[in-house]
Amino acid sequence: SKGEGVLAGRKVVITAGPTREAIDPVRYISNRSSGKMGYALARAALAQDAEVILISGPVSLPAPPGVEMRHVTTAQDMHEATHDCIGNADIFIAAAAVADYRPADEKTQKIKKSGETMSIELVRCPDILQSVAALPRAPFTVGFAAETENVDEYARGKLENKKLDMIIANRVGADCGFDTDDNAANVFWSDGEQRFAKTQKSELANRLIALVAIAPEHICGVIVSVETAVRTNTVGDNHIELLLLELAACILVDVLGFSRKTDRERRRLQRRY
Ligand code: C5P
Repeated sequence: SKGEGVLAGRKVVITAGPTREAIDPVRYISNRSSGKMGYALARAALAQDAEVILISGPVSLPAPPGVEMRHVTTAQDMHEATHDCIGNADIFIAAAAVADYRPADEKTQKIKKSGETMSIELVRCPDILQSVAALPRAPFTVGFAAETENVDEYARGKLENKKLDMIIANRVGADCGFDTDDNAANVFWSDGEQRFAKTQKSELANRLIALVAIAPEHICGVIVSVETAVRTNTVGDNHIELLLLELAACILVDVLGFSRKTDRERRRLQRRY
């Protein structure tokens, strides 16, 4: 792809918004997600020159120009759309508020009221994020943890259980998170964390994308690119820039303690170069 952004040449797949699980032809189960965070992340990744696919549940936001949209309704649709395009993705960010359960069977006719109580049997929806993280050639996989309490603890648990590369935790409640224009976030990865104070979702998205872009795998990518360029004598005019990038990468690795030696990262690098 064109451009000089930190994600030039990278394919980023993002899920956003809620899903809708039909009860009958006129009713559904859903949640309060507005899609704002996922859409902001798509814009931020595009601004860094990534190729961006945004898989969106029903929201009232305009499609960000330049982003490839996939509109879906149910968790099952979102799961299929994700796996359709995840094959050669470098980064997957699951910002959607996917329904955990859907009605066991969708009634073909409108349910009529009768008794004083009624119950609907629910069954689990596929966990899209977990299924992507489990792929043999998984992209750099980032999840969200929207919690009302014990935010950091639940987030770290999810990072481990779903075998994610990174998790973005935020508290949701009456005053923050869902359907608001700003958000705060605590980000965790295997051996580090970073906290972002409450700010506009667009600004937070830029910072989160910058963090994802300098994640360990990409640092390795930069170093390998520099090595390849030097070896094949193709550095040309860009060589100072490349060496500065390498230097920045080394600082991140050595000073800030980013690990670059996990098996998963190495496998990804072997795939790419
Ligand atoms: O386990 P929990 O639903 O809290 O995890 C939240 C994270 O998992 C979010 O990144 C969300 O997009 C993703 N998720 C998913 N598919 C599901 C449920 C959650 O991708 N069925």
